[in-house]
Amino acid sequence: MARVAVVTGGTRGIGEAISLALKEAGITVAANYAGNDEKAAAFTERTGIKAYKWDVGDFDACAAGVAQVEAELGPVDIVVNNAGITRDGTILKMTRDMWEDVIRINLGGCFNMAHAVFPGMRTRKWGRIVNIGSINGQAGQYGQVNYAAAKSGIHGFTKALAQEGARFGVTVNAIAPGYIDTDMVAAVPTDVLEKIVAKIPVGRLGQAHEIARAVAFLCAEEGGFVTGSTLSINGGQHMY
Ligand code: CAA
Repeated sequence: MARVAVVTGGTRGIGEAISLALKEAGITVAANYAGNDEKAAAFTERTGIKAYKWDVGDFDACAAGVAQVEAELGPVDIVVNNAGITRDGTILKMTRDMWEDVIRINLGGCFNMAHAVFPGMRTRKWGRIVNIGSINGQAGQYGQVNYAAAKSGIHGFTKALAQEGARFGVTVNAIAPGYIDTDMVAAVPTDVLEKIVAKIPVGRLGQAHEIARAVAFLCAEEGGFVTGSTLSINGGQHMY
């Protein structure tokens, strides 16, 4: 039977590319999303991949969402924690809500999803969890104390959970994308983005499929000896 994957934030941007790459690898994919019904419906129409709506920042919603996917598609073998938001601003302008939303969704979402799937993976002695971190969690970024803290937290979360999963055949890895050509990066003011791109040695933004290919490798059978690692895919912008 085909393995089942949940990709959070899986209907747009990097998540959409990941959902497609896993489908191409023969995996049954459930693409989670939080808000944009119209884009999710168009995604399902285009790809044939079913979309499931819940907020990854909500612990109970993750448990219920995973239960629904398992009832419809079978046990979840793979989770890609990709869902994330930005609420950029210098600390003087950052409100408590901007801080808490980013920590709750970007970092809390990884805990909530892993908590829901880990017992089953452990029992079945096979699992793949891939967490999407960020170059800005490794290097920091002006105007992103919330996002950098959450993404940096994801890198620590990954190494800790990898130690817990290893003897049960559950690998846990992170990918740290640099600036990828998505709606999230398009929201950065043009003049700021131009300065950032000027500092990328390969001279361009990354493409979502360049992240998805690496996720597919980590989720494959041959990925079984890779755990606790962080793969930086950033065009050479930060050599970590
Ligand atoms: N380093 C040092 N100083 C900087 C700076 C930097 N990188 N950027 C701005 N400044 C300075 C400015 O020159 C300005 O100084 P003066 O007051 O002396 O002129 C001061 O800081 C304030 O700058 P702004 O007026 O621009 O501040 P703002 O609060 O209006 O906006 C900001 C700040 C929202 C952070 C804006 O600069 C911004 O959007 N930056 C981009 C942040 C970013 O890269 N986000 C990534 C989103 S994509 C993503 O996160 C995906 C991923 O994983 C990579």
